[in-house]
Amino acid sequence: MKYVYLDYNATTPIDPTVHKAMEPFLKDQFGNPSSNHALGQQAAGAIDQARSQLADLLSCQAEELIFTSGGTESSNLAIQGILPQSGKSNPRHLIISAIEHPATVEPANSMCRLGHSLTVVGCDREAVVDVQEVAKAIRPNTSLVSIMHANNEVGTLQPIHAIAKLCRSSGILLHVDVAQSLGKVPVDVQELGADLLTIAGHKLYAPKGIGALYIKKGIGLHPLFFGATQEQGLSPGTENVSQIVALGAAAELAQNRLEADSERIGKLRNLLEVQLKDGSGNRITINAERAERLPNTSSTNFPDVVAVELLATVPELCASTGAACHSNTTHISATLAAMGISEEVARGTIRLSLGRHTTETQAAYASEQLLGAWRGLSGC
Ligand SMILES: Cc1ncc(COP(=O)(O)O)c(C=O)c1O
Repeated sequence: MKYVYLDYNATTPIDPTVHKAMEPFLKDQFGNPSSNHALGQQAAGAIDQARSQLADLLSCQAEELIFTSGGTESSNLAIQGILPQSGKSNPRHLIISAIEHPATVEPANSMCRLGHSLTVVGCDREAVVDVQEVAKAIRPNTSLVSIMHANNEVGTLQPIHAIAKLCRSSGILLHVDVAQSLGKVPVDVQELGADLLTIAGHKLYAPKGIGALYIKKGIGLHPLFFGATQEQGLSPGTENVSQIVALGAAAELAQNRLEADSERIGKLRNLLEVQLKDGSGNRITINAERAERLPNTSSTNFPDVVAVELLATVPELCASTGAACHSNTTHISATLAAMGISEEVARGTIRLSLGRHTTETQAAYASEQLLGAWRGLSGC
């Protein structure tokens, strides 16, 4: 079966250029970067180059980046590495938003189990976090605020610059998860003003299982794993050289293509949304439509149908649903719930996320198929 892949926020295919760059490190250039001989030093040099490529994309210094196993490790390290291991003698306070990825929510919850405290700030109907809410949540013992740059489900971009200003004036560190925004919109650490950034390679046309954490110069984290001194001792263990090289190549590619990609993909996403709305007499609606959002993401509500059933009738289309049904109950995603979207609407929500390889033909095919399936199931 030939698939139409509209799930780029879940993961992206490895770009051929990225694959070409990493391949030698899976074959002849297999040295351990800690070895002093030629093969080892070639690997070490390749890691240095990848760090510089990623630093260029983010406008930071190479030594402010460490490579990790992915977005989840990066966010765990940022949150658990800042707060003390026990909150008993020195309880600290942490602020996150209600639309964060589990990679942020769960380490925050684990900090609460250690005796620290947590405030979860809400968002509006467009999934925008209110800066004033964050300001109100700040306590004398607040150590860290963690807010994502772009939401993975509806694509809303957050007012990170304003939140960073607030954090700076209150002497609080800011962690920003840029897993979804990097490569889709400009992500410049100087402009964002963040202290820590989570990066996930597989959202950026690099392989799964590689990521990075930006740590602003001067910020000290304590490690979660202990071993040798690789990655400043914060992600110890022999480096995943081929994947690090891949992330570097993906970062360089993203930098070169960002403007053209986001313009082309944004036009296709808009076209898809117009086709869905027009074809349904405006009965299909778009979440966070008025918000500043990622150019590739469309969170669409199909009325009077269950999204999983709708997608099951179009098996060649790869997309995600916003709610999972378990027997008679529906689990709405935390993001849709925080936006105030009802269970009934969320049941029919499908996330369509486009990418570098999406064509106009594919977008048109997807809208036709979805509209046909929706009409069939809903009787409209
Ligand atoms: C916003 C966001 N943060 C973090 C992650 C986790 O990244 P990884 O899959 O590399 O652990 C994801 C992946 O889905 C994500 O969308």
